[in-house]
Amino acid sequence: MATVLGIESSCDETAAALVTSDRRILAQAIASQDEEHAPFGGVVPEIAARAHAERLTPLIARVLGEAKLSLDDCDAIAATAGPGLIGGVMVGLVTAKALAMATGKPLLAINHLEGHALSPRLADATLTYPYVLLLVSGGHCQILRVDAPGRYKRLATTIDDALGEAFDKSAKLLGLGYPGGPAMERLAAQGDPRAVPLPRPLFGSAEPHFSFAGLKSAVMRARDSGQYEAADIAASFQQAAVDCIIDRTTRALAGMPGEPVTALVVAGGVAANGSIRAALEQLAASHGLRFVAPPLALCTDNAAMIAWAGLERIAICSPPDPLDIAARPRWP
Ligand code: KG4
Ligand code: ZN
Repeated sequence: MATVLGIESSCDETAAALVTSDRRILAQAIASQDEEHAPFGGVVPEIAARAHAERLTPLIARVLGEAKLSLDDCDAIAATAGPGLIGGVMVGLVTAKALAMATGKPLLAINHLEGHALSPRLADATLTYPYVLLLVSGGHCQILRVDAPGRYKRLATTIDDALGEAFDKSAKLLGLGYPGGPAMERLAAQGDPRAVPLPRPLFGSAEPHFSFAGLKSAVMRARDSGQYEAADIAASFQQAAVDCIIDRTTRALAGMPGEPVTALVVAGGVAANGSIRAALEQLAASHGLRFVAPPLALCTDNAAMIAWAGLERIAICSPPDPLDIAARPRWP
Protein backbone atom coordinates (compact mmCIF):
# COMPACT_ATOMS: atom_id res chain seq x y z
CA MET A 1 0.00 0.00 0.00
CA ALA A 2 1.25 3.48 -0.87
CA THR A 3 0.53 6.82 0.82
CA VAL A 4 0.88 10.12 -1.06
CA LEU A 5 0.82 13.71 0.17
CA GLY A 6 -1.11 15.86 -2.32
CA ILE A 7 -0.85 19.64 -2.65
CA GLU A 8 -3.21 21.91 -4.61
CA SER A 9 -2.79 25.67 -5.11
CA SER A 10 -3.68 26.43 -8.72
CA CYS A 11 -6.64 28.75 -8.14
CA ASP A 12 -8.22 30.06 -4.94
CA GLU A 13 -8.18 26.94 -2.77
CA THR A 14 -5.09 26.07 -0.73
CA ALA A 15 -5.28 22.34 -0.02
CA ALA A 16 -3.30 19.41 1.33
CA ALA A 17 -4.33 15.75 1.69
CA LEU A 18 -2.94 12.34 2.54
CA VAL A 19 -4.41 9.51 0.46
CA THR A 20 -3.63 5.79 0.27
CA SER A 21 -3.67 3.45 -2.71
CA ASP A 22 -6.62 1.60 -1.15
CA ARG A 23 -8.69 4.78 -1.52
CA ARG A 24 -8.60 6.10 2.03
CA ILE A 25 -8.33 9.83 2.58
CA LEU A 26 -6.34 9.78 5.84
CA ALA A 27 -6.63 13.54 6.30
CA GLN A 28 -7.36 16.57 4.19
CA ALA A 29 -7.64 20.32 4.68
CA ILE A 30 -8.80 23.10 2.37
CA ALA A 31 -8.50 26.82 3.01
CA SER A 32 -10.85 28.72 0.73
CA GLN A 33 -10.04 32.30 -0.26
CA ASP A 34 -13.61 33.30 -1.15
CA GLU A 35 -13.56 36.10 1.43
CA GLU A 36 -10.37 37.64 0.06
CA HIS A 37 -11.65 37.65 -3.53
CA ALA A 38 -15.33 38.43 -2.91
CA PRO A 39 -14.87 42.26 -2.96
CA PHE A 40 -13.46 41.93 -6.51
CA GLY A 41 -16.13 39.54 -7.86
CA GLY A 42 -13.47 37.10 -9.03
CA VAL A 43 -10.07 35.63 -8.20
CA VAL A 44 -7.20 38.17 -8.02
CA PRO A 45 -4.00 36.22 -8.89
CA GLU A 46 -1.63 38.23 -6.69
CA ILE A 47 -3.89 37.95 -3.64
CA ALA A 48 -4.28 34.21 -4.31
CA ALA A 49 -0.52 33.60 -4.51
CA ARG A 50 0.14 35.44 -1.24
CA ALA A 51 -2.63 33.55 0.55
CA HIS A 52 -1.24 30.20 -0.69
CA ALA A 53 2.23 31.17 0.53
CA GLU A 54 0.89 32.00 4.01
CA ARG A 55 -1.37 28.99 4.40
CA LEU A 56 0.14 26.01 2.65
CA THR A 57 2.84 24.87 5.08
CA PRO A 58 0.58 25.06 8.18
CA LEU A 59 -2.06 23.07 6.24
CA ILE A 60 0.47 20.35 5.41
CA ALA A 61 1.54 20.21 9.06
CA ARG A 62 -2.12 19.94 10.04
CA VAL A 63 -2.96 16.98 7.78
CA LEU A 64 0.19 15.14 8.83
CA GLY A 65 -0.76 15.76 12.48
CA GLU A 66 -4.36 14.59 11.95
CA ALA A 67 -3.20 11.40 10.23
CA LYS A 68 -0.47 10.94 12.87
CA LEU A 69 2.09 10.54 10.09
CA SER A 70 5.41 12.15 9.23
CA LEU A 71 6.72 12.94 5.76
CA ASP A 72 8.87 9.82 6.07
CA ASP A 73 5.68 7.73 6.03
CA CYS A 74 4.75 9.10 2.58
CA ASP A 75 5.78 7.29 -0.59
CA ALA A 76 5.71 10.44 -2.74
CA ILE A 77 4.90 14.16 -2.72
CA ALA A 78 2.40 15.14 -5.44
CA ALA A 79 1.63 18.75 -6.31
CA THR A 80 -0.32 20.53 -9.02
CA ALA A 81 2.23 21.83 -11.55
CA GLY A 82 -0.35 23.52 -13.81
CA PRO A 83 -2.50 24.66 -15.48
CA GLY A 84 -3.57 27.56 -13.29
CA LEU A 85 -2.66 30.95 -11.89
CA ILE A 86 1.10 30.75 -12.09
CA GLY A 87 1.94 32.44 -8.77
CA GLY A 88 -0.18 29.96 -6.85
CA VAL A 89 1.03 26.94 -8.82
CA MET A 90 4.63 27.97 -8.07
CA VAL A 91 3.93 28.16 -4.34
CA GLY A 92 2.58 24.60 -4.29
CA LEU A 93 5.14 23.10 -6.62
CA VAL A 94 8.16 24.75 -4.94
CA THR A 95 6.88 23.61 -1.54
CA ALA A 96 6.58 20.04 -2.87
CA LYS A 97 10.08 20.23 -4.36
CA ALA A 98 11.52 21.39 -1.03
CA LEU A 99 9.77 18.56 0.86
CA ALA A 100 10.89 16.01 -1.75
CA MET A 101 14.46 17.26 -1.57
CA ALA A 102 14.55 17.31 2.22
CA THR A 103 13.09 13.80 2.56
CA GLY A 104 14.47 12.13 -0.56
CA LYS A 105 10.90 11.16 -1.55
CA PRO A 106 9.87 11.18 -5.22
CA LEU A 107 8.21 14.32 -6.61
CA LEU A 108 5.10 13.90 -8.77
CA ALA A 109 4.15 17.02 -10.75
CA ILE A 110 0.47 16.60 -11.49
CA ASN A 111 -1.66 18.21 -14.17
CA HIS A 112 -4.63 19.74 -12.30
CA LEU A 113 -7.03 18.57 -15.02
CA GLU A 114 -5.68 15.05 -14.65
CA GLY A 115 -6.54 15.33 -10.95
CA HIS A 116 -10.14 16.20 -11.84
CA ALA A 117 -10.23 13.47 -14.51
CA LEU A 118 -9.13 10.67 -12.18
CA SER A 119 -10.77 11.75 -8.89
CA PRO A 120 -14.03 9.91 -9.67
CA ARG A 121 -12.04 6.68 -9.35
CA LEU A 122 -10.94 7.67 -5.85
CA ALA A 123 -14.58 7.83 -4.80
CA ASP A 124 -15.75 4.81 -6.79
CA ALA A 125 -13.59 1.69 -7.10
CA THR A 126 -16.01 0.21 -9.63
CA LEU A 127 -15.53 3.00 -12.17
CA THR A 128 -13.45 1.50 -14.98
CA TYR A 129 -11.78 2.98 -18.06
CA PRO A 130 -12.71 4.27 -20.55
CA TYR A 131 -15.23 6.88 -19.42
CA VAL A 132 -16.38 10.30 -20.53
CA LEU A 133 -15.82 13.20 -18.18
CA LEU A 134 -17.65 16.50 -18.31
CA LEU A 135 -15.49 18.91 -16.33
CA VAL A 136 -17.35 22.12 -15.54
CA SER A 137 -15.92 24.62 -13.05
CA GLY A 138 -14.94 28.27 -12.76
CA GLY A 139 -11.80 27.69 -14.77
CA HIS A 140 -12.57 24.64 -16.92
CA CYS A 141 -15.25 23.59 -19.35
CA GLN A 142 -14.24 20.43 -21.17
CA ILE A 143 -15.40 17.03 -22.26
CA LEU A 144 -12.65 14.42 -21.98
CA ARG A 145 -12.45 10.79 -22.87
CA VAL A 146 -10.40 9.13 -20.10
CA ASP A 147 -8.72 5.94 -21.36
CA ALA A 148 -6.05 5.44 -18.66
CA PRO A 149 -3.77 7.57 -16.44
CA GLY A 150 -1.91 9.81 -18.88
CA ARG A 151 -4.18 8.86 -21.78
CA TYR A 152 -6.89 11.42 -22.42
CA LYS A 153 -8.63 12.75 -25.47
CA ARG A 154 -10.13 16.21 -25.28
CA LEU A 155 -13.41 16.05 -27.17
CA ALA A 156 -14.60 19.57 -26.43
CA THR A 157 -13.55 22.79 -24.78
CA THR A 158 -14.94 26.31 -24.44
CA ILE A 159 -14.11 28.90 -27.04
CA ASP A 160 -14.58 31.70 -24.48
CA ASP A 161 -15.84 31.49 -20.86
CA ALA A 162 -16.05 28.41 -18.65
CA LEU A 163 -19.56 27.58 -17.43
CA GLY A 164 -18.78 28.42 -13.78
CA GLU A 165 -17.35 31.73 -14.97
CA ALA A 166 -20.61 32.43 -16.83
CA PHE A 167 -22.56 31.64 -13.63
CA ASP A 168 -20.24 33.92 -11.63
CA LYS A 169 -20.36 36.81 -14.13
CA SER A 170 -24.14 36.58 -14.54
CA ALA A 171 -24.54 36.48 -10.76
CA LYS A 172 -22.43 39.63 -10.48
CA LEU A 173 -24.66 41.32 -13.10
CA LEU A 174 -27.69 40.45 -10.96
CA GLY A 175 -26.03 41.81 -7.82
CA LEU A 176 -25.51 38.41 -6.21
CA GLY A 177 -22.37 37.50 -4.24
CA TYR A 178 -19.25 35.58 -5.28
CA PRO A 179 -19.03 32.68 -6.02
CA GLY A 180 -22.18 33.20 -8.01
CA GLY A 181 -23.13 29.64 -8.97
CA PRO A 182 -24.85 28.62 -5.73
CA ALA A 183 -26.60 32.03 -5.47
CA MET A 184 -27.85 31.76 -9.08
CA GLU A 185 -29.20 28.28 -8.43
CA ARG A 186 -31.08 29.46 -5.31
CA LEU A 187 -32.56 32.46 -7.12
CA ALA A 188 -33.42 30.34 -10.20
CA ALA A 189 -35.56 28.10 -7.99
CA GLN A 190 -37.95 31.07 -7.55
CA GLY A 191 -38.12 32.03 -11.22
CA ASP A 192 -39.65 30.89 -14.51
CA PRO A 193 -37.08 29.27 -16.84
CA ARG A 194 -39.16 30.30 -19.89
CA ALA A 195 -39.64 33.94 -18.91
CA VAL A 196 -36.59 35.45 -20.60
CA PRO A 197 -35.55 34.57 -24.16
CA LEU A 198 -31.81 33.86 -23.90
CA PRO A 199 -29.48 32.44 -26.58
CA ARG A 200 -28.02 28.90 -26.55
CA PRO A 201 -24.57 29.59 -28.10
CA LEU A 202 -23.27 26.86 -30.45
CA PHE A 203 -26.42 24.77 -29.90
CA GLY A 204 -26.59 22.16 -32.65
CA SER A 205 -23.16 22.95 -34.10
CA ALA A 206 -21.17 19.99 -35.47
CA GLU A 207 -18.15 20.30 -33.17
CA PRO A 208 -19.10 19.68 -29.52
CA HIS A 209 -17.45 22.88 -28.21
CA PHE A 210 -18.94 25.29 -25.68
CA SER A 211 -19.44 29.05 -25.70
CA PHE A 212 -20.96 31.10 -22.88
CA ALA A 213 -19.82 34.71 -23.43
CA GLY A 214 -22.91 35.53 -25.51
CA LEU A 215 -25.20 34.10 -22.85
CA LYS A 216 -23.66 36.35 -20.21
CA SER A 217 -24.05 39.41 -22.48
CA ALA A 218 -27.69 38.50 -23.04
CA VAL A 219 -28.18 38.38 -19.25
CA MET A 220 -26.80 41.92 -19.09
CA ARG A 221 -29.21 43.12 -21.80
CA ALA A 222 -32.15 41.42 -20.06
CA ARG A 223 -31.22 43.10 -16.78
CA ASP A 224 -30.74 46.52 -18.43
CA SER A 225 -34.09 46.29 -20.22
CA GLY A 226 -35.82 46.51 -16.83
CA GLN A 227 -38.51 44.14 -18.18
CA TYR A 228 -37.69 41.07 -16.08
CA GLU A 229 -37.50 39.91 -12.49
CA ALA A 230 -34.01 38.84 -11.39
CA ALA A 231 -35.34 35.38 -10.44
CA ASP A 232 -36.73 34.88 -13.96
CA ILE A 233 -33.39 35.91 -15.49
CA ALA A 234 -31.55 33.47 -13.20
CA ALA A 235 -33.95 30.62 -14.01
CA SER A 236 -33.77 31.30 -17.75
CA PHE A 237 -29.99 31.49 -17.60
CA GLN A 238 -29.78 28.17 -15.81
CA GLN A 239 -32.13 26.55 -18.32
CA ALA A 240 -30.01 27.86 -21.22
CA ALA A 241 -26.92 26.43 -19.50
CA VAL A 242 -28.61 23.03 -19.07
CA ASP A 243 -29.73 23.00 -22.72
CA CYS A 244 -26.20 23.83 -23.94
CA ILE A 245 -24.56 21.22 -21.70
CA ILE A 246 -26.93 18.48 -22.81
CA ASP A 247 -26.71 19.36 -26.51
CA ARG A 248 -22.90 19.54 -26.46
CA THR A 249 -22.45 16.36 -24.41
CA THR A 250 -24.89 14.47 -26.66
CA ARG A 251 -22.81 15.59 -29.63
CA ALA A 252 -19.56 14.45 -27.99
CA LEU A 253 -21.04 11.04 -27.14
CA ALA A 254 -22.22 10.61 -30.74
CA GLY A 255 -18.84 11.33 -32.27
CA MET A 256 -16.90 9.17 -29.82
CA PRO A 257 -13.87 7.36 -31.25
CA GLY A 258 -12.57 3.99 -29.98
CA GLU A 259 -13.84 1.40 -27.51
CA PRO A 260 -17.31 2.13 -26.04
CA VAL A 261 -17.21 4.07 -22.77
CA THR A 262 -18.61 2.69 -19.49
CA ALA A 263 -19.88 5.85 -17.82
CA LEU A 264 -20.66 9.54 -18.03
CA VAL A 265 -18.91 11.33 -15.18
CA VAL A 266 -19.38 14.94 -14.12
CA ALA A 267 -16.82 16.88 -12.05
CA GLY A 268 -15.97 20.50 -11.22
CA GLY A 269 -17.78 23.00 -9.01
CA VAL A 270 -20.74 23.40 -11.40
CA ALA A 271 -21.50 19.69 -10.82
CA ALA A 272 -23.07 20.94 -7.57
CA ASN A 273 -25.96 22.31 -9.64
CA GLY A 274 -29.05 20.13 -9.15
CA SER A 275 -30.66 20.94 -12.52
CA ILE A 276 -27.47 20.19 -14.42
CA ARG A 277 -26.94 16.94 -12.52
CA ALA A 278 -30.51 15.78 -13.10
CA ALA A 279 -30.31 16.52 -16.84
CA LEU A 280 -26.99 14.66 -17.16
CA GLU A 281 -28.33 11.68 -15.26
CA GLN A 282 -31.20 11.46 -17.74
CA LEU A 283 -28.80 11.81 -20.68
CA ALA A 284 -26.60 8.98 -19.36
CA ALA A 285 -29.64 6.74 -18.90
CA SER A 286 -30.81 7.40 -22.45
CA HIS A 287 -27.37 6.26 -23.71
CA GLY A 288 -27.30 3.19 -21.47
CA LEU A 289 -24.36 4.63 -19.52
CA ARG A 290 -23.70 4.71 -15.80
CA PHE A 291 -23.88 8.22 -14.38
CA VAL A 292 -21.20 9.03 -11.83
CA ALA A 293 -21.08 12.26 -9.86
CA PRO A 294 -18.40 12.08 -7.17
CA PRO A 295 -19.12 13.67 -3.78
CA LEU A 296 -18.92 17.42 -4.13
CA ALA A 297 -15.83 17.72 -1.94
CA LEU A 298 -13.98 15.70 -4.59
CA CYS A 299 -15.59 17.57 -7.53
CA THR A 300 -14.36 21.00 -6.56
CA ASP A 301 -10.69 21.88 -6.25
CA ASN A 302 -9.05 19.72 -3.58
CA ALA A 303 -5.74 18.04 -2.81
CA ALA A 304 -7.05 14.48 -2.44
CA MET A 305 -7.51 14.36 -6.23
CA ILE A 306 -3.89 15.43 -6.71
CA ALA A 307 -2.65 12.75 -4.30
CA TRP A 308 -4.87 10.21 -6.07
CA ALA A 309 -3.53 11.16 -9.52
CA GLY A 310 -0.06 10.57 -8.03
CA LEU A 311 -1.16 7.14 -6.78
CA GLU A 312 -2.54 6.26 -10.22
CA ARG A 313 0.85 7.17 -11.67
CA ILE A 314 2.64 5.04 -9.08
CA ALA A 315 0.30 2.13 -9.93
CA ILE A 316 1.43 2.18 -13.57
CA CYS A 317 5.10 2.62 -12.51
CA SER A 318 5.40 6.01 -14.19
CA PRO A 319 8.75 7.59 -13.16
CA PRO A 320 8.88 10.57 -10.75
CA ASP A 321 9.55 14.10 -12.01
CA PRO A 322 12.87 15.93 -11.78
CA LEU A 323 13.29 18.68 -9.15
CA ASP A 324 13.75 21.29 -11.88
CA ILE A 325 10.37 20.65 -13.50
CA ALA A 326 8.66 23.97 -14.31
CA ALA A 327 5.26 25.23 -13.17
CA ARG A 328 3.02 25.69 -16.21
CA PRO A 329 0.27 28.32 -16.47
CA ARG A 330 -1.08 26.47 -19.53
CA TRP A 331 -1.00 22.70 -19.80
CA PRO A 332 -3.79 21.28 -21.95
O1 KG4 B 1 -14.23 23.43 -9.11
P1 KG4 B 1 -14.37 24.76 -8.47
O2 KG4 B 1 -14.53 24.84 -6.97
O3 KG4 B 1 -13.14 25.67 -8.80
C1 KG4 B 1 -12.63 25.89 -10.08
O4 KG4 B 1 -13.14 26.83 -10.71
O5 KG4 B 1 -11.72 25.15 -10.50
O6 KG4 B 1 -15.61 25.46 -9.17
C2 KG4 B 1 -16.11 26.71 -8.76
C3 KG4 B 1 -17.17 27.15 -9.75
C4 KG4 B 1 -17.59 28.58 -9.54
O7 KG4 B 1 -17.65 29.21 -10.80
C5 KG4 B 1 -18.98 28.44 -8.93
O8 KG4 B 1 -19.82 29.54 -9.20
C6 KG4 B 1 -19.48 27.17 -9.58
O9 KG4 B 1 -18.35 26.32 -9.60
N1 KG4 B 1 -20.58 26.57 -8.82
C7 KG4 B 1 -21.85 26.43 -9.28
C8 KG4 B 1 -22.61 25.88 -8.22
N2 KG4 B 1 -21.78 25.70 -7.15
C9 KG4 B 1 -20.53 26.12 -7.54
N3 KG4 B 1 -22.38 26.72 -10.47
C10 KG4 B 1 -23.70 26.46 -10.63
N4 KG4 B 1 -24.50 25.96 -9.67
C11 KG4 B 1 -24.00 25.66 -8.45
N5 KG4 B 1 -24.79 25.17 -7.49
ZN1 ZN C 1 -10.17 22.74 -10.90
